[in-house]
Amino acid sequence: MGCPGAGKGTQSAKLQEEFHLKHISTGDVLRAEIASGSELGKEIAGIINKGNLVPDELMISMLENIVKSTTKGIIFDGFPRTVAQAEALDAMMQRLQRDITEVIMIDLPESEVVSRIASRRQCRKCGEILHVTPGTEAKACPVCGGELYTRPDDTEERVKHRLEVYHTDTLPVKNYYQNSGKYVEIKGDQTPEKVFEDIVSVLKKVK
Ligand code: AP5
Ligand code: MG
Repeated sequence: MGCPGAGKGTQSAKLQEEFHLKHISTGDVLRAEIASGSELGKEIAGIINKGNLVPDELMISMLENIVKSTTKGIIFDGFPRTVAQAEALDAMMQRLQRDITEVIMIDLPESEVVSRIASRRQCRKCGEILHVTPGTEAKACPVCGGELYTRPDDTEERVKHRLEVYHTDTLPVKNYYQNSGKYVEIKGDQTPEKVFEDIVSVLKKVK
């Protein structure tokens, strides 16, 4: 969990590699549907490009098929994002006889969010997330040479709206998990390496 720009995608990529997990970013799932050009994708684009959440039922049904397709441990990135999604996840885990290991909140001061996101570029081909500094902007992905792009929901105005949505819809999810004994907060305003180190030390303590 974490607000826009907290580093969920950055840390998930590192965790996936370290622990051989499956990374499911619900944002990426939705963007892939948009890229497919389907009617559903067009509908989704109209919602997420404005910075709003897609309906819970749609998100949950898209996710269940992906979860069912793997026996690996899963990192959910950006899900659950509402209390209804957290309840549906519990029900899904029970149905599939799986369990939630840990809920990790990457806590980033909101004053950092807009500038962080303004510096983000992502690779259309391999999904690599980059931080660019003005004047030194790479033309192609340093990992695979793919095209770099800026997400349509990354304008300052939309990021501010996403933060509002985060407050109203997603922060209550924190209360949902806080007393579960599986909830931990990590400071997000540290180097990516230190954030990763903190997350790994939490996961190593999990039985
Ligand atoms: P989603 O794609 O999940 O967007 P988000 O939650 O707003 O988060 P971001 O992806 O913007 O940030 P991040 O935390 O992954 O940060 P990143 O690692 O990239 O969702 C997009 C939209 O899809 C939603 O608004 C909604 O419409 C829809 N959606 C998604 N899930 C949904 C759901 N469950 N239900 C309904 N709708 C849903 O890092 C950001 C930048 O910071 C990068 O440039 C990175 O290089 C840099 N960076 C990362 N860590 C550090 C660090 N420690 N120090 C300095 N820079 C750093
Ligand atoms: Mg992300």
